[in-house]
Amino acid sequence: MRSAAHRTGTLGLCALAWSVLAAGERGPMTRAAEPAAPQSQRAPAEPSGRFGFGRPASPSDIAALDIDVGPDGRGLPAGRGTAADGERTYAARCAGCHGKTGREGPNDVLVGGDPGDGALFGRNPQLRRTIGNYWPYATTLFDYVRRAMPPTDPGSLSDTDVYGVTAYLLFLNDLVPADAVMDAASLPKVVMPARDRFVADPRGRPARTR
Ligand code: HEC
Repeated sequence: MRSAAHRTGTLGLCALAWSVLAAGERGPMTRAAEPAAPQSQRAPAEPSGRFGFGRPASPSDIAALDIDVGPDGRGLPAGRGTAADGERTYAARCAGCHGKTGREGPNDVLVGGDPGDGALFGRNPQLRRTIGNYWPYATTLFDYVRRAMPPTDPGSLSDTDVYGVTAYLLFLNDLVPADAVMDAASLPKVVMPARDRFVADPRGRPARTR
């Protein structure tokens, strides 16, 4: 009896819900009863098969975005720079956020060697990850600065400026001498201290589509 009553109760509730919904469909708030939108608010008719805005990307649009540099240096542009060149760029365009020597901030600390305990970042959250103790490839530094820094005006540095500031940051991290010339041939050869702390993705590289 108890379960039969329970079933009846459930059915009763369902019936009530159905009648509320059904009344709503017929009620004054349904879409069908709304006045038609005035002509000016209606969406313009779509040109067939298109959204009606935008244009095909030109080769120069694509070139401005197609700037990725691989770990092995693939994609590095022509140009060259030394730490002395980069020191000027750094002082003018970077020091305000990263500090006079790259250690003071207020934004990310860029300079600092191995903290001495094998860089166990996971076990010690106080350790600061820097170019000197964490970045596995010098080429990534070029890529990142060129595409993202300064964040207020990314893309504003010339390739020569980026080579220079890359050389300067590597020099501040004691990874290259002050007179080292950084270019497409020398940058991939810089040995980064954290290089062997990263392992290759066992799934391999994604297939290139072009
Ligand atoms: C207006 C402030 C500002 C300026 C100017 C600036 N940066 Fe940055 N930079 C940042 C911030 C904020 C981050 C962190 C971005 C993030 O985590 O997404 C950052 C991150 C970086 C990093 C990555 C640090 C890491 O280990 O993850 C590098 C390298 C870097 N900046 C280099 C430069 C260089 C070189 C310049 C000058 C050409 C520059 N920045 C100018 C604010 C600035």
